Amino acid sequence: MKRYVIAGCSDRALDMFAKPIVANFSNYARLVGIFDPNHKRMEFFNQQLKTSIPAYTDFQEMLKEQKPDCVIVTTIDCYHHQYIIASLKAGVDVISEKPMTIDEEKCRAILAAEKESGKKVTVTFNYRHAPYCTKAKELLRQGKVGKILSIHFEWMLDTRHGADYFRRWHRRKENSGGLLVHKATHHFDLVNWFLEDEPDVVFAFGSRRFYGPTRRERGERCLTCKYKKTCEFYWDITRAGEKMKGLYLDAEAVDKYYRDGCVFSSEIDIEDTMSVNVRYRQGTFLNYSLIAHSPYEGWKMSINGTGGRLELEEYHSGNRASEPFHYIRCYDREENSVTYEFTKPTGGHGGGDERLLRMLFVNDLPDPLGLMADSRAGAMSILIGIAANKSIARGKPVEVSGLLKPSG
Ligand SMILES: NC(=O)c1ccc[n+]([C@@H]2O[C@H](COP(=O)([O-])OP(=O)(O)OC[C@H]3O[C@@H](n4cnc5c(N)ncnc54)[C@H](O)[C@@H]3O)[C@@H](O)[C@H]2O)c1
Repeated sequence: MKRYVIAGCSDRALDMFAKPIVANFSNYARLVGIFDPNHKRMEFFNQQLKTSIPAYTDFQEMLKEQKPDCVIVTTIDCYHHQYIIASLKAGVDVISEKPMTIDEEKCRAILAAEKESGKKVTVTFNYRHAPYCTKAKELLRQGKVGKILSIHFEWMLDTRHGADYFRRWHRRKENSGGLLVHKATHHFDLVNWFLEDEPDVVFAFGSRRFYGPTRRERGERCLTCKYKKTCEFYWDITRAGEKMKGLYLDAEAVDKYYRDGCVFSSEIDIEDTMSVNVRYRQGTFLNYSLIAHSPYEGWKMSINGTGGRLELEEYHSGNRASEPFHYIRCYDREENSVTYEFTKPTGGHGGGDERLLRMLFVNDLPDPLGLMADSRAGAMSILIGIAANKSIARGKPVEVSGLLKPSG
């Protein structure tokens, strides 16, 4: 039985890892320690899990006392590298939440530490495991569109989910790398995985014209805001359920982490509207856009190849989200098309979370499509976002390979 510890008692850590380990995988995995700078969050973890797992505010002490086989890193993105590297140095494998890290220096440090340690970093790209995406990968492997020449990919976050990134830590690039790293790492990973190729050159535009200080009626946070009655972004954390209360409201006095910050704050420095072009090493073009203020949430992708075209679309909110099926449409050059129909799965991230957990903790499924992602995949997906951030700042294209060299 493998011994696991968690670094960062986050919302994600609780629902994605701690609860399933305790409830569903107890024959394979044991959660032997939890770490977080905030003791109130750890208390809430143990209360939710109905456990008394040893809780630490000192990460090294947890490693020393619990001697885990694997550390699950689920903190704020900008700290991932600290716990990944410390774990590798202690001779322990790592499962890291996405994004693996937020900038190229930290990325290089992780890759070097992994190489030196001989241990392994796995990055949890759950979208790969969603049956819808796995099927697309299968069709591409079968050569349904021939050699892929270009991909058009549009991701829409709505004003509920999208706004959430502007309420808290994600809203500062120093914490999250912005949405081109924090969020788009999922999307760039899907493209990299579909193409089985690595990015070469990136050019991007980005702006913030929806959230941030775009209106005068704003406060520090919803809880104390004088525009509660009129602001359409008002969110009442006191009525948002047990988890929001236990993990954030009851714990905020310890570290001043306010979960309901104002989406119009002048502190915000991430973009809400982004457009990215990528040329891959084998010559494929990716045309990608991400917005965080859409009336509905979902994504659309078209994959153009020498033999045809594949079209994917998924809706997470809005009118079409309640449709029972989603589809993959495949067109050839003889005016034939095949439509693959999928019943919408109920689990997190298109049903991907559950499948990923089984592969992580039981590891009894074959993986011919390469669903499990390593540190190289973790690096390549963030490096597109990191290059895009640099391109936005410089107004010039950025070469990805340069970012892997110390002077990049
Ligand atoms: N794969 C996915 O689909 C998915 C979904 C959600 C979140 N995530 C990832 O999970 C991670 C957690 O996100 P969340 O929104 O659940 O976080 P959260 O805001 O709920 O929690 C962040 C935690 O980090 C802790 N923390 C603060 N400073 C720290 C430090 N210096 N060292 C260690 N811990 C510190 C906080 O106390 C808090 O418990 C992020 O990396 C995020 O990208 C992934």
